Amino acid sequence: MIMRRATNVCGATSRGDTLWFLHDRFGLFIHWGIYSVASRHEWVKKYEALSDEDYQSYFDHFNPDLYDPRAWAKIAKRAGMKYFVITTKHHDGFCLWDTQLTDYKAPNTQAGRDLIAPMVEAFRTAGMKIGFYYSLLDWHHPEYTVDKNYPQSGDNAYIEAAKHRDIRKYAGYMRGQVRELLTNYGKIDLMFYDFSWSHQPEKGRFKNKGKDDWESEKLLALTRELQPDILVNDRLDIPGDYTTPEQAQPRGPLYKDGKPVVWEACHTLNGSWGCHRDNLNWKSPRMLVEMLIDCVSKNGNLILNIGPNARGEFDLRTMGTLEAIGEWMRLHNTAIYGCRASEFEAPSGCRLTQNGKKLYVHLFHWPMNHLWLDGLADKASFARLLSDGSEIRIMKKQPWGLDAHGDASDQRDALMLELPIQRPDVLVPVIELTLT
Ligand code: GLC
Repeated sequence: MIMRRATNVCGATSRGDTLWFLHDRFGLFIHWGIYSVASRHEWVKKYEALSDEDYQSYFDHFNPDLYDPRAWAKIAKRAGMKYFVITTKHHDGFCLWDTQLTDYKAPNTQAGRDLIAPMVEAFRTAGMKIGFYYSLLDWHHPEYTVDKNYPQSGDNAYIEAAKHRDIRKYAGYMRGQVRELLTNYGKIDLMFYDFSWSHQPEKGRFKNKGKDDWESEKLLALTRELQPDILVNDRLDIPGDYTTPEQAQPRGPLYKDGKPVVWEACHTLNGSWGCHRDNLNWKSPRMLVEMLIDCVSKNGNLILNIGPNARGEFDLRTMGTLEAIGEWMRLHNTAIYGCRASEFEAPSGCRLTQNGKKLYVHLFHWPMNHLWLDGLADKASFARLLSDGSEIRIMKKQPWGLDAHGDASDQRDALMLELPIQRPDVLVPVIELTLT
């Protein structure tokens, strides 16, 4: 175990076990709770400043009669995802498991049972790693202090009545809940705490919440005590094992103090994490595959989010998207799993991923006839299209007409490939080079 935690394959140091994480690269995020009944974003309580009474109808009408976590796990696996992270509790404070510390939980809805236990079992049986998301924000707990993100942040009477609240009691409640989550469901591989904003400039009447409110050191120590190998993200306002750019792709590998950082970009399918019926801002499967490749080419992971609906299913568009990604992954997963950034430079319109002697050229743009790869002349023994295994010829000399002029690519020590005119009919074509 010590070895696994020392220096991971990206050269970064983390305390939790990053080996599987850096290998697996692609995960499923699931945002599910009673906000799926509103189907207007998981922040609907805040966005519409709903009172507890207003919001109660989502609790009363939450009835996921079609919930079948084995079907979820099957879809995720087919999409090529290797781990999953479920919102055990989101900002509204509703808990999907049978916690003993509040009545605000799935067993007390029409669901009538712990919804986490069968999910963990289904994904574990499918061979996937298990991650829990746990919200630090809580818009239901009686001791959670009002802040700028609180649904009633504009309601003076509410703020006055909430003045006596004691965030330390809430911090104790969180530790109690985390103890349940990390004790009752077997090995948990990852913990995604969400979120702190102490780093933001303070303005207005509210203090920004951060590590002192959450008692982050204690929470993290408890997390590691209960699950020694667990990977913990960095949203507790103290350093964690990996960092989580949200709905953004970094421009290159991430570093802190000159050292590489383990990271995972988290993305929605359409801008909302919880299901959002009328939001049509869907990313195409091709864009999503490009994002996955882009992450790996920069030493990162992608966790892609699904917001199941109130009856407990993924909607048709989500399933179509995952199916399309899965078809690409079926043919190209060796260019993702176990891969990392390459030391070579990607040609324009391409990304490179590498796993030892295998170098993968992902072509976001399909060039006409030729592709030059700088610094790779004589360094590859074979090239093939990954989709069908067909050879891509390595050219011995410049194409006719360029040979007479000593093209600049000569000086850059370029490997030259001859591509077919027809772009292969896959979301992103990949050429695999076997390096010598
Ligand atoms: C944000 C949002 C939240 C979502 C999360 C995912 O912090 O508050 O709704 O769960 O990001 O990373």
